[in-house]
Order: sequence, then C-alpha cells, then structure tokens
Amino acid sequence: MTLWPQTLLARSVLLIAILLVLAHLAWLQIFRVSTREPRARQVSQQIISTVNLTRAALVTAEPSKRYSLLGEIAEREGVQVHVAQPGETLAPLPKTGFYEFVEADLRGQLGAATKFTLARNGVEGIWVSFDIDSDSFWMLMPESRLASDESLRWIGWGALVLLLAVGGAVLIVARINRPLRALTQAAAQMGRGATPAPVDENGPTEIRTLSRAFNQMAADRKALDDERALLLAGVSHDLRTPLARIRLGIEMLDDKGDASIRDGIVQDIEDIDAAINQFLDFARAASSESETPDANLNELVAALAPKYARAGKPLIVQTGEVPPLPLRKLAMQRLISNLIDNACKHGGNEVTVVTGSDNHAAFVEVLDRGPGIPLEQAEHMLQPFTRMDAARSTSGTGLGLAIVDRIAKMHGGSVRLLPREGGGLRVRAELPLKNSI
Ligand SMILES: Nc1ncnc2c1ncn2[C@@H]1O[C@H](COP(=O)(O)OP(=O)(O)O)[C@@H](O)[C@H]1O
Ligand SMILES: [Mg+2]
Repeated sequence: MTLWPQTLLARSVLLIAILLVLAHLAWLQIFRVSTREPRARQVSQQIISTVNLTRAALVTAEPSKRYSLLGEIAEREGVQVHVAQPGETLAPLPKTGFYEFVEADLRGQLGAATKFTLARNGVEGIWVSFDIDSDSFWMLMPESRLASDESLRWIGWGALVLLLAVGGAVLIVARINRPLRALTQAAAQMGRGATPAPVDENGPTEIRTLSRAFNQMAADRKALDDERALLLAGVSHDLRTPLARIRLGIEMLDDKGDASIRDGIVQDIEDIDAAINQFLDFARAASSESETPDANLNELVAALAPKYARAGKPLIVQTGEVPPLPLRKLAMQRLISNLIDNACKHGGNEVTVVTGSDNHAAFVEVLDRGPGIPLEQAEHMLQPFTRMDAARSTSGTGLGLAIVDRIAKMHGGSVRLLPREGGGLRVRAELPLKNSI
C-alpha cells in the first residue's frame, strides 16, 4: 500500500496543499529577511537612547545623589547599571543577521569600543557597555522593553489563511470532481453491461463535452443492442422454424430411402441448429438477463448433472464451500455447460466439475483427460471462431470458449485454460465475491 492517494480529489487537494504550504513558507522567509534590518534599527535606536539618557543622568547628577538616581532608574524603567569588572564572561551573540545589525549600529553611534551581549556572567538580558570618563559600566535592559518580534504572530495568521485556502481548495476540487465522478460511475455501470441513465451535461467545457460524448455513446450502444436483439429474434424465428419443419418432414418420410442418408441429414440439421444456438448465445446482449443477488453456484452445477447422466455422460461433481454470490443464472449455466460440452466433445468421457472459493473469488473448474490445449494456444482459443486444427474434422463454431470468456467477464471474473496434472485440460472460471470488489 502506498501513501500516495488514489482518487483524483485526494490527489488534487494534496498537491494544492503542498503548493500552498511551500508558497507560504517562501513568503514568510521573504517577510523575515525584508523586515530584519528595519527591526534591528528600531531596536538599536531604543538601546542607544536608553544608554544616552542613563549616561547623561549619571554625568549631570551630583555625585552624592548618583546612587539614589540609579535606584530610581532601576525601579521606574527596569534599567540597571553595573560597574564593569575584570574577567567577565560574555556570551557570544547568536549568529543571526539581526544581532549583527544591532551590534554594528550600537558601535557606530556609541563608539567602536562598545560591547553588546545577551548574557553577562550568566545573567540574561540586553547588556551594553559605556564609559564615563575612564570608568566602565554596563547597562542592563530587560528584553521586554524592546519592540517585540512580530513574526510569530504572522506565522499564526499565515497558518489560519493557509487553512482557509486549503479548505477552499477542497471545495473547488470537489466541485470540479462531481461531474467526473458521475461519469465514472456511469462508465463503470456500462462496463458491467447495464445501460446507465444519461449523465448531466453541465460543468466546465471539457467535462461537458466528455459527458455529451459519453451520453451519445451510451445511446448508440443502446440502439445497437436493440437492433441486435431484433436481428436475433428474426434469426431464431426465420431460420429455426423452417429447420424444425424440414426435420419433421424427414422423420415422416417413409422408409423407402437409404436410412444412412436420412440419418446424415438429421445429423446435419442438428449441427446447424446447434450452431445457430451458439451464434445466438454469443450475440445475446449481456444485459438481457438480470442478476440474482444471492445465487448458489453449487445448485447451478447440480441442476446440470442429470442432463448429462441421461445422455450417458455422467459427471464427477466435487462441490466445495461457495458463499452466495451475484450471478446471472442462465448465463452461468451456459458457461458451465459449454465447458462440459467441450470436455465431452474434445476431451473424452471422464469429466469432473469442481467448485470452491477462497477469500476473494468463487471458482468452477471443468477437468477432462483429453489432449488438452497447449499453454501458448490457450489465450487464442478464447477468441471467437478459433479452433485447433485437430477439431476441424468435428462440427463446431469455435464460439463456445468465447461465450464462456464473455460470461465470466460479464460477472467481473476471468477464465483460464490450464494443463491438468496427469494429462488433460483444466478450465478454471473465477468469479469475484461481492465483498472483495
Ligand atoms: N476440453 C478440451 N480439450 C481439448 N481441446 C479443447 C477443449 N475445449 C476446447 N478445446 C479446443 O478449443 C477450441 C475452441 O473451443 P470452442 O470455442 O468451444 O469451439 P468448438 O467447441 O466449437 O470447436 C476447440 O475447437 C478445441 O480445439
Ligand atoms: Mg465448444
């Protein structure tokens, strides 16, 4: 399983969200860089004027009052003055462009010897050194006195805007997606052989064009299906009725003629009838039979067995556990009996039918002990009108396996022609179970 989402909606939203976050981060960085210098200047101006005022107050005050003055400044402004001592430890400035700007500004205006640190002897705060005559002092300012950093607030607002933008993107993409989803559903329905209701022809131009084309296609297919149904009805009536009459006529002829010729004609008529049957089966519209939601595959197999027993070709039936599944019963019966007919015709007498299921699919297998079909021919034999050379001498249309394949696909399943262990053919039709689709 990959984390990359599969639906168009999720993919588009994810891509847009990534784009928005990247754009937002880029803007934030631009904002920080472009406001760094003005902010540094603002901070250094505040520090400089505090230093200048403090120093001026100290210089002009009478020496006896200096001490109480310092106390007053500390109390009112939070600004403390300390006498510099030898061997102080000063923390190095953080290596951000911001503090380098501030330090350069301080040195430019307060003298090149000015020292600036954020921690002196382990005490944190804004420390700036200044001299009065030959004495050195440190001024300590609490950070709260400086203009505060706004960027955190900007990040907060930015995140909110981002959230709104992503929300908007979800709505927009979902809106664009809606007609597409309707189309997808209709196409899936059509793929299963049903005739979907026309989809709405609105939305953006491309989707409108697509919807219109799809509706046109569905309508054309419906017309084609209807025509085919009409043709089939015509064929089965107009060809099979006279055939039945001929057959009846021959049966009623008196025994004067050669019996073998008569039997030959009867056989030919039966072959023609079987061939017409196959054509009809192949051409019959997939949608002509509706699905039984909880059909029982084993029952279908069991229902077929007596017919073969009567014809002297008893089946070996091995039914396994098969949960109820949606089936078109007549079509499914046709699938199984086509396989059994093939096994009887091409594969000899011993025909086995096996059913069963695993988590994903139910299966029915028909096995015989005949010559089998070489693996490289197997796929080809599923095509209509294809037969192997050995079969040329026997009657048949080459449609049997094509019908089987079509019916399996109609159920969302598949057919495989496999070699049977110990010789023979093993045809396996798999039908997906409801909960696994
Ligand atoms: N059980 C089988 N054993 C051997 N060959 C088979 C078997 N079933 C089908 N075939 C081969 O596959 C070909 C196609 O089968 P099918 O489509 O049913 O056509 P048909 O039975 O009319 O010949 C057959 O002509 C035959 O050569
Ligand atoms: Mg056949």
